[in-house]
Amino acid sequence: MGYDLNMRVWRGDGSGGDFASFTVPVEEGEVVLDAIHRLQAEQAPDLAVRWNCKAGKCGSCSAEINGKPRLMCMTRLSSYDPTETITVTPMRTFPVIRDLVTDVTFNYEKAREVPAFTPAEPNTGGKFRMQQVDVERGQEFRKCIECFLCQNTCHVVRDHEENKKAFAGPRFFIRAAELDMHPLDAKSDRKKFAQAQQGLGFCNITKCCTEVCPEHIKITDNAIIPMKERVVDTKFDPLVWLGRKIFRRDQLETAEEETHTVVTSDAAAGMSQGAAPEVHAWHRPAPAPQHSPISHGGATVSEIASDRPGSSSPFGDDMSFPLTHDELTYQHPTADDVR
Ligand code: SF4
Ligand code: SF4
Ligand code: FES
Repeated sequence: MGYDLNMRVWRGDGSGGDFASFTVPVEEGEVVLDAIHRLQAEQAPDLAVRWNCKAGKCGSCSAEINGKPRLMCMTRLSSYDPTETITVTPMRTFPVIRDLVTDVTFNYEKAREVPAFTPAEPNTGGKFRMQQVDVERGQEFRKCIECFLCQNTCHVVRDHEENKKAFAGPRFFIRAAELDMHPLDAKSDRKKFAQAQQGLGFCNITKCCTEVCPEHIKITDNAIIPMKERVVDTKFDPLVWLGRKIFRRDQLETAEEETHTVVTSDAAAGMSQGAAPEVHAWHRPAPAPQHSPISHGGATVSEIASDRPGSSSPFGDDMSFPLTHDELTYQHPTADDVR
């Protein structure tokens, strides 16, 4: 049975705004987006609202309903008391363009920074093979509809504009985890990237992002915590520590340099003409060893006795995490770099 719904909708733009009150006739079985559409059709034709699928699949209609980040098209009016006033506001973490529409450019900028899937070999003839368990692990993360409700909810950026430069947010932590767990991805520095460039260390596992995800992705348990564990394993695992003691530091650093550089085709052409190759560093170059290089393939007594990892941190041994934005030098290669 239909009834008259009392609504408060935030109206304004980047320079400011306020709530406007409306009474909107609604029908049984409708969702908040239906009420917004009727309001737009009958009372406020200039109301700005973003939507596309009305089926919870495009991630466009994200807003805050009675203060909770939700998809308008998936929020049933029947979940509220008919006498209750429903308040709809734009996502708070992103700048308002107009009314309920926010500028989510931040998320696309963070998306561009994530290094793409990098298979060890080209997929010629569809020969990639994966275990079902590996397929299922990535599939959970691929359910993301990019509604950015998790990004909007995360307290690291919600009230802290200054953190946005150094923090990618939960949506991109699941992307990092998806790629790092992918058995065919050959990029070995995704953990370092997550910690140093995406600001994984800022996350203190409050699980608020998981709570609002309309796809029920276990963002914290299945992506963020495993990534944090992988970062810790890489840096502090005793076997890795031992490996660093055994292998020569100059070998480790050479291998690291090879992993993190890309030679452009122009540079390759130059090489064939005898010119020095133009190399684009994906990371800052590994710092010069702070001790003499070990030439005999073993470790010195002082190194074995040291409580620090045998090879220098690629960020410098005196660096503490999380890094500030000024200290981040990772650059995703552009199309020009890899052409
Ligand atoms: S668990 Fe981490 S990423 Fe998710 S909302 Fe909390 S601080 Fe943000
Ligand atoms: S992880 Fe969930 S909440 Fe975050 S953008 Fe994807 S679907 Fe939306
Ligand atoms: S309109 Fe597509 S998710 Fe709501």
